[in-house]
Amino acid sequence: MRPSDGSVESGPAMWLNRGHIAIRTAVPDECPPWKSEFRVSPTGAEPSAKKAKEAMARHPHVLITGAGMLGAHAARLFLARGWGVTLVDREVKERYLQDILGEDAPVTMIQVDLSDEHATAQALQDVRPDVVLNTAALVAARAQLDPVLTLDINVKMPLRLAQWATSVGAERFVSISSFGVYAADQTTRITESSPTMSPHVSHYGASKAAMENILGAYAVASGLKCVMIRPAIIYGYGPNLGGSIASAILEDLVVRAVRGEAVVLPPGMTSESEYTYVGDVAEAAFGAATYDTDDVFAVFNAGSQQTTSTTRFADVLRALFPDVSVTEAPRDDTLFGPPRQQHATDLTRTIDTLQIPVPRTIEAGLAQFVDDLRSASHLDHVTSLSWR
Ligand SMILES: NC(=O)c1ccc[n+]([C@@H]2O[C@H](COP(=O)([O-])OP(=O)(O)OC[C@H]3O[C@@H](n4cnc5c(N)ncnc54)[C@H](O)[C@@H]3O)[C@@H](O)[C@H]2O)c1
Repeated sequence: MRPSDGSVESGPAMWLNRGHIAIRTAVPDECPPWKSEFRVSPTGAEPSAKKAKEAMARHPHVLITGAGMLGAHAARLFLARGWGVTLVDREVKERYLQDILGEDAPVTMIQVDLSDEHATAQALQDVRPDVVLNTAALVAARAQLDPVLTLDINVKMPLRLAQWATSVGAERFVSISSFGVYAADQTTRITESSPTMSPHVSHYGASKAAMENILGAYAVASGLKCVMIRPAIIYGYGPNLGGSIASAILEDLVVRAVRGEAVVLPPGMTSESEYTYVGDVAEAAFGAATYDTDDVFAVFNAGSQQTTSTTRFADVLRALFPDVSVTEAPRDDTLFGPPRQQHATDLTRTIDTLQIPVPRTIEAGLAQFVDDLRSASHLDHVTSLSWR
C-alpha cells in the first residue's frame, strides 16, 4: 500500500509520493501485486483493479518507457489530451518530472530496470495499456561503450515489451528509433525510403536498425501494430540520463546562456545537422499512437525539416541572448559526435499521415526551449559536461 504521508515505505516495494506523482520502486523477486498505483485523478482514492479497468474503459492509457527528455514531454502531451499515463524508468528524476508534468500530475511512475526481464514482468503485471510508447534506450556515446548492453536495452528489451504488449491486449506499440539509421551521404532530402547506413559506424545506429527490423518481423508475425519514429537530434529540457551527448551539449549551452554566462560551442558539436525541439517529437509520437491505420508496421521521420550549421546555431543564440558572448571552439571531427546530415528530412508524409503541426524552426524551437528553462525550477543537474 502507498503510505499516506508521502514517505518511503519499508519492505519490498518502496513508494515515494510527493505531490501526486506516485513512484514505485520494483525490487527484483519481491514485488508486491500491483494495487494502488493506477491513478486517473489527482484526488481520487486508491482505485481497486476493477475501478482501474473501468477507468481505462473511459480513458485510453499509455505506458511510456523512459522518463527522460522525450518520455517526459510525451507524457505531458498524452496527459493534456486526456490519456492515463504510466511512466517506467530505471532512474527517476522526481524534481525533473515535476518541472515537466507539474506538481499534481496524475501519472504513475514505476522504477524498474527494463533489461531485467523478471523484475519488469512483475512490475508491469497489472498494467493494461492501450498503447506502449518505448523511448527508453542507451543513446549514442553510452551505447558506443557497451555493445552487448546496447543490444539488451535497445533491441531485446523493445522486443520483449512488444510481446508483453500483445499478451495484455495493447493495440499499438510505438518505438523511438533514430535518423542515425540513414546513410550519411544523402543526395536529396531524407524520406523514409532514403538509403540507410551500411555498414553502421556506431553501435547505437546499428541497434536502432536492428530494433526496427526485429519489431517489423514481430509485427507481421503477431499482428501487433508497430510504428517506428526516426527523430533527428532532439533538444529540450531533459534529465540527461540515457547518454545523448548532443542533447546534453545543447542543453548545457542554452542553460549557460539563460544564466548569462559566456557560451563556447564545443569542438565535438557536428558541423551541420538537423535539430528538432522535443515537443515536436512528442507530437509525432502521439500521432503515431493515434492515427488511423490498418498497417501492422510503419516508419516515420521526425525533425524540423532544416539543417543547422554550428555557425547558424551560434547566430540564433546571439539573437536570443544579445548580452551573452557566444563563440565557436575550433572544429574537431576526430571526436565522437552526433550524425552529420547536410540534407534535411522531408516530413510531408509524417505531417499528413500523423496529423501533426508543422515542427518548429530552430529559431522557434530554441525560443520555446528557453521559455521552458525559464519556467523550470530544478536545473541543478545541468552541470559541467565531460567535454569541457
Ligand atoms: N536525444 C536525441 O538526440 C535523440 C535523437 C534521435 C533519437 N533518440 C531516441 O529517442 C529516445 C528518447 O531519447 P531521450 O533524448 O529522451 O533520452 P533520455 O536519456 O533523456 O531518456 C532515455 C531514458 O531511458 C531510460 N532508460 C535507459 N535504459 C533503461 C532501462 N534499462 N530501464 C529503464 N529505463 C531505462 C533512461 O534512464 C532515461 O531516462 C531514445 O530511444 C533515443 O534513442 C534520441
